[in-house]
Amino acid sequence: MTAPGFSASHLARAYDAVVVRTQRAQIRGLLGAREGEAVADLGCGPGHLAGELALDVGPRGRVVALDREPGMVEAATVRLTGDRSRTVLADVTALPVADQQLDRAVAVQVLEYVPDVERALSEVRRVLKPGGTAVLVDTDWRSAVWHTDDRDRTDAVLRAWEGHFKHPQLPVLMPGLARSAGFTSVDVVALPMVETQTGADTYSMGMAAAIAHFVGRTEPVLATGWREDVKEQSRRGQYFFSLTRFATIVRR
Ligand SMILES: C[S@@+](CC[C@H](N)C(=O)[O-])C[C@H]1O[C@@H](n2cnc3c(N)ncnc32)[C@H](O)[C@@H]1O
Repeated sequence: MTAPGFSASHLARAYDAVVVRTQRAQIRGLLGAREGEAVADLGCGPGHLAGELALDVGPRGRVVALDREPGMVEAATVRLTGDRSRTVLADVTALPVADQQLDRAVAVQVLEYVPDVERALSEVRRVLKPGGTAVLVDTDWRSAVWHTDDRDRTDAVLRAWEGHFKHPQLPVLMPGLARSAGFTSVDVVALPMVETQTGADTYSMGMAAAIAHFVGRTEPVLATGWREDVKEQSRRGQYFFSLTRFATIVRR
């Protein structure tokens, strides 16, 4: 199950933010999908990236957009064009794809939720053609910088938020895990995002709401106070947010 605050429509709004659109373009660049290729978006969520990848591979190519949540698959189906592309309800640890079928695979903000990352990596390697590439993007939440008056409270909230993930610092483990899974080429690229203003169309204010919701289930006073502190920075014109995701680029 996706945690509360992360419905397909919530994610769809967050992923329209400028910083996320910019990062999606970077990820597409790192993946480098070409016309006619077979590509999978693993844990596709509402399908923004899958829809764009379908344009990259064109009518002769195909995209498999896969997620374990029916609501996400439904939302992604609307964004996915191309007769040869399809959405699938499935888990990244059991890919419904035959061996060595894909030129490329991408998983953005997915493996950090998966208990058995080793199994998922082994599946990704299995379905890639020899020489195929996968781009695996996750956040190290220790990279979060959120300017507030009460730094200790912010640290406490972000530590509590780490409970939302199976692996809140997965990127630092990924190179080792990828090599153990048999990938020969492993590179890492940092993908920072920065917002200095708030608004309905920003990523970080949507995240602040989701974090306050998650943390507030067990520590309501902490969560409410922190969210007010974040909003106060915005009112004063002193808002600052930064977070770094890391793309682990592996080749079979
Ligand atoms: C934070 S969202 C990211 C969505 C999308 N990749 C993006 O960046 O736009 C995480 C997605 O991973 C999916 N997910 C989590 N664990 C999964 C698993 N084991 N197999 C397939 N999908 C999974 C969730 O359902 C959710 O849609």
